[in-house]
Amino acid sequence: MTYADYIRAKTANHSPEPKKPDNSKKTILSLCDYSGIWSDPYREAGYNVIQIDLKHGDDCRLLTLEEVGSVYGLLSAPVCTAFSAAGARHWKKKEEEGDEQLIEGLSIVDATLRFVYLNKPKFWVLENPVGRLKHYIGHHKMTFQPCEFGGWCDNPAEDAYTKRTCLWGDFQEPEKKPVDPVDGSKMHRLYGGKSERTKEMRSMTPRGFARAFFTANQ
Ligand SMILES: C[S@@+](CC[C@H](N)C(=O)[O-])C[C@H]1O[C@@H](n2cnc3c(N)ncnc32)[C@H](O)[C@@H]1O
Repeated sequence: MTYADYIRAKTANHSPEPKKPDNSKKTILSLCDYSGIWSDPYREAGYNVIQIDLKHGDDCRLLTLEEVGSVYGLLSAPVCTAFSAAGARHWKKKEEEGDEQLIEGLSIVDATLRFVYLNKPKFWVLENPVGRLKHYIGHHKMTFQPCEFGGWCDNPAEDAYTKRTCLWGDFQEPEKKPVDPVDGSKMHRLYGGKSERTKEMRSMTPRGFARAFFTANQ
């Protein structure tokens, strides 16, 4: 064995770990994010995640530019009560009672767009179900069903359901890894009630989608 062969053999199994990128200076502003599922992959990759939700005590409409600093990426999942087609049969009645819910919903959407306008993130995305939001912010960029990204989950059965939702923004479209929607519209079947808990379960970001979105937008 030559000396060169000896060195090669000795170092063969000792290739240094590839250096992980330092993401700590990249801020992800995640609005209306109660569960933290959408922002989780960024947190795990070391990004500086600012997770904002009213139920954690923060109103995204009151965030100042100083509190936020520069924003690398923005995720937002505003309350959909006033916009979702699922509640369409109540729209007329709600309007007769006044525009409060609609104005409230729009004020959260507007706060998102304010941060986009002022902070100019590298990517931004706003999620809301199929409904009437398009009349206020234009046509969505894409729609998806949770099951279309189920293959990204450790347990693909977790997202084997349907619940079409829309995405607006400026971002790379995530790669789909579909699974059969064997659970159908499980969110409405299992969590159809009006309690806060069932509403939370229904509106949680699907984990497979969150991973796919992170992979496409870094
Ligand atoms: C449709 S849910 C989205 C939930 C999200 N996908 C998740 O996985 O937690 C809307 C969320 O917006 C929050 N929210 C409502 N008004 C808000 C406000 N003014 N500022 C920040 N969050 C707000 C609610 O508490 C709720 O968690």
